[in-house]
Amino acid sequence: LEGEDRGCEKIETLLLFFKILKFLVLDKELFVGRRKRFAELMREGIAIIPTSSEVIRNGRDTYFPHRPDSDFYYLTGFSESDAVLVVIAGKNARSILFCKKKNKQKEKWTGYLYGPKKAQIEFGFYEAFELEKLDQELPKLLSQEKYLFFDWQNLDWSNRVRAWLAGTRNVLDFRNPKSILHEMRLIKSPAEILTMSYAAKVSALAHKKAMQICKPEMMEYELEAELVREFRFHGSALLGAYTPIVASGNNACTLHYVKNNRMMESGNLVLVDAGSEIGNYASDITRTFPVNGKFTKEQRIIYGIVLKSQLAAIGKALPGNSFLEPDKEARKVITRELLKIGLLRGNPRTLIKKNACAKFFPHGTSHWLGFDVHDVGNYQINGKPRKLEPGMVLTVEPGIYIPRGMQGVDKKWWGIGVRIEDDVLITEKGNEVLSKDAPKSVEEIERTVGTIDLNWRI
Ligand code: GLY
Ligand code: MN
Ligand code: MN
Repeated sequence: LEGEDRGCEKIETLLLFFKILKFLVLDKELFVGRRKRFAELMREGIAIIPTSSEVIRNGRDTYFPHRPDSDFYYLTGFSESDAVLVVIAGKNARSILFCKKKNKQKEKWTGYLYGPKKAQIEFGFYEAFELEKLDQELPKLLSQEKYLFFDWQNLDWSNRVRAWLAGTRNVLDFRNPKSILHEMRLIKSPAEILTMSYAAKVSALAHKKAMQICKPEMMEYELEAELVREFRFHGSALLGAYTPIVASGNNACTLHYVKNNRMMESGNLVLVDAGSEIGNYASDITRTFPVNGKFTKEQRIIYGIVLKSQLAAIGKALPGNSFLEPDKEARKVITRELLKIGLLRGNPRTLIKKNACAKFFPHGTSHWLGFDVHDVGNYQINGKPRKLEPGMVLTVEPGIYIPRGMQGVDKKWWGIGVRIEDDVLITEKGNEVLSKDAPKSVEEIERTVGTIDLNWRI
């Protein structure tokens, strides 16, 4: 049955993948439409939006896998490194790409380059030039515009932009393209939601697989290998959307532990925080489970509290509620429950007001999710937490961490770290948990852990 079950899941994800391909690969209109909308929101002026360069990993010619800049990719769909998008708003709105020129010798080593001519046609730009033309073309373009949209925090490019401006008199004012782009990116379109659902589904499958193969005396990195294998198998970027966290025992209390090199012992919990990245869209899931498949009494209590708080928080992730509502709810539940088991003492109201649970729960409950794992978009509007709207995607991820040696806490709780994280899409009627396929209840987890014996592993 297990095999058939998995077969169905695979087919379902494959079908979804084909739908995504249609949107992501074939639909250049999607990106043309975004540039048009961006130009409308700029109203007038010129925007300069560079993508990222290759980054050396070691020596002089070994690179990290390239990942395009999220803002640049959102507007272009163009994945090559070292390119610049120029968007001109107004009556003659148009967009221009500067990219690497064709180079037969280089392409022999590192693969196909579009070159300006082909890129212009395939990606729907008004014009496209070789990168080498930037210094010639940009001063001309800038000298016709009053407003420049450029992110001056981009130190790789700010000196060049300053040099282009030096010869021009027209530009009166600077604006940040990110304030427009990040609001656009915050509300996900149906095509984006489909891709993110797929990414979350793949990640959920990977988490399930990691649970299934987990056994005492395995190394943390063996679980990491399983996660990454499943991500890659379904078309994800290499390590996923971020470096996977596989943190067993006391390591779970280090929030961003990524060494993943400890041997997991029977009696430990293991916290796994990992998510695939598909079509540059992130997913971000955390599950925590017992290495030997059975929660101890104390682990079950803490896990139960985190789960209760997470479910309550998801219940508050509704259109019209503020971004902070799920966080408030999670803290309320955790505080009340920690009081019940004596880990907090005092008046519940005062403790909630003082955020006393921060001793055990030292991070936020939610962040936006999209191209970036901690995605863009304001969390506040005019100083007030913004309201949730359909099309927003956020994580809900409360946790309780009790590191070894924690003062004022009975030893029996030491070394327990639990986080549970799901990806939640806000819909018209409420929400949809995109990552729901990853086992989460105590019963489901205990039923899943250690059920696949990888006996080729010696
Ligand atoms: N994986 C990082 C986070 O949960 O925010
Ligand atoms: Mn997260
Ligand atoms: Mn996470």
